[in-house]
Amino acid sequence: MEITKVAIVGLGTVGTGVARLLLEHGDRFTRHAGRTLWLEKAVVSDLKKPRDVELPKGVLTDKLSDVTGNPEIKAVVQLIGGLEPDRTIMLKLLESGKDVITANKALLAEHGPELFDRARELGRSIAFEASVAGGIPIVAAIGQCLSSNEIRSLHGILNGTCNFIVSQMDHHGASYDDALREAQRRGYAEADPTMDVDGSDAAQKLSILAHLAFGARVHWRDIPREGIQNLQAADLKFARELGFRIKLLAVAQLVGDQLELHVAPQLVRLGSPLADVRDAYNAVRVVGDAVGKVWFHGLGAGQMPTASAVVADLIDTVVGRTAITFRTLELWSQRPARVAPRDFGMAESRFYLRFDVDDHPGVLSEITGILGRHGISIASVIQHEPTAGAGDAVPLVIMTHVTQQGAADKAVAEIDKLNSVRGRSVRIRVHE
Ligand code: HSE
Repeated sequence: MEITKVAIVGLGTVGTGVARLLLEHGDRFTRHAGRTLWLEKAVVSDLKKPRDVELPKGVLTDKLSDVTGNPEIKAVVQLIGGLEPDRTIMLKLLESGKDVITANKALLAEHGPELFDRARELGRSIAFEASVAGGIPIVAAIGQCLSSNEIRSLHGILNGTCNFIVSQMDHHGASYDDALREAQRRGYAEADPTMDVDGSDAAQKLSILAHLAFGARVHWRDIPREGIQNLQAADLKFARELGFRIKLLAVAQLVGDQLELHVAPQLVRLGSPLADVRDAYNAVRVVGDAVGKVWFHGLGAGQMPTASAVVADLIDTVVGRTAITFRTLELWSQRPARVAPRDFGMAESRFYLRFDVDDHPGVLSEITGILGRHGISIASVIQHEPTAGAGDAVPLVIMTHVTQQGAADKAVAEIDKLNSVRGRSVRIRVHE
C-alpha cells in the first residue's frame, strides 16, 4: 500500500481534531484515498504545551523547516488562524512544493488573489472547504456539484457563534453576555469574538461563496453588514408575536445582472427551515436555475466538524482531485468579475421597525407621516398598553410593506431626530 506523508502546522482545537482523525481512523482514509495517510510532522510554537492527542514520537516539532525541508511531505494542513504569520507560512509551504489545506477564511478573504496566483505559478493547490460553514460541504457543492447551474441566490446562516447567542437569548432567555461567554467556552467563537458578532466573519465567508458561486470579486469589507451586538430581547419577543424569529443572514442574490450582497440580522418566518436552525448550526439555501432550491445544514464550527472538512480536503488533495478543480475554477485569478455588485440602498425588503416613543397625542402620526413621505407603506402596527413603572415611553412596532433599504434608512434617521422618540430606533429586514 502506497504511503503519502502529510503534516499539520498549528495544533490548536481543529489541528488536534485533524491529528486525532488521522491517527485513530487510518483505515477509513486508506479506503477513500487508496493509500495510507501518514502524519509525519505536527508543527507547534510551544513544544511543552499539554495536548489532547497523543502523537507518535518524533512527530511534534517547533521547526517549520522540518516540513518545508522534507520533500517526502506532499500535503500540509495549515491551521494557525489570523493573517500573519499565516500568509507568510502558506507562501513558504507552497514555495517548498507542498499543496496546502486551510480553514482560514480571513486569510483567503484578505489575501486570496496573492496566494492563489502564487499557488498557480508554482503548480500547487490550496483547498479551503473548512473555511466556510465548518463541516457543511458547501464549497464542494457550489464549486463542483452544482456547476451545471446558474446560481440565482444564496442565503446562509454562516456564523455559529451568532446563531448560538441568538438561540440562547430566544429559547432560553439568556442575556447576550452570558450567551457569548458560553459560545466562547464551547470553542465556537474566534479568539477575539468581535468579528463573529459584528458580522465580519459571515461577510468573509460570504465573499468566498459569492466568488465561487457568482464569480464576484467583492472584498468582504465592501459587503454591507450589521452584526447582532445590538439585538435586544424585546425585538426577539416582538418578532415571535409577529410570527418570526431573528437570524443573522448572509445573502447573495442576483437582481437582473447585478449581485446584491449583505449580512444582517433578519426576521425569518417561524416554521421555515432557516428559523429552525438552532445553536451553533449553520445552514445554506442555494437556488440554482436547474436544480431549484437546495438546503445544507450542519455544524459550522467546533473541533470535529471542522476537522471533518479539513481531512476530506486532505484526501482530495493527495489523490489529485483538488489540483484539477483548482486549475479549472481559476479562483481569485486576474479575470474580471462576472457580475457587478448592486447598490445596497436599492435592495428591497419589508422592514420591522421599533421606536421607543413618548405615549403622547400625535406621536404615531408624526412617525407615519415621515414613513409616508419616504414612500413607505405600513402593513401592521403593534403598540401595547404601557406597563406599570415603564414611565411614559412605549415601544411602537411597525411592519412595513416592501420598500428599499435606502428609503428605510433615511426615514428611520429622520424619525430618530423627533423629540418624541427616545434613543436609536431598530430597523430589521424581513426575509420572506
Ligand atoms: N467563529 C466561527 C463561527 C467559526 O462562529 O461560525 C469558524 O468560522
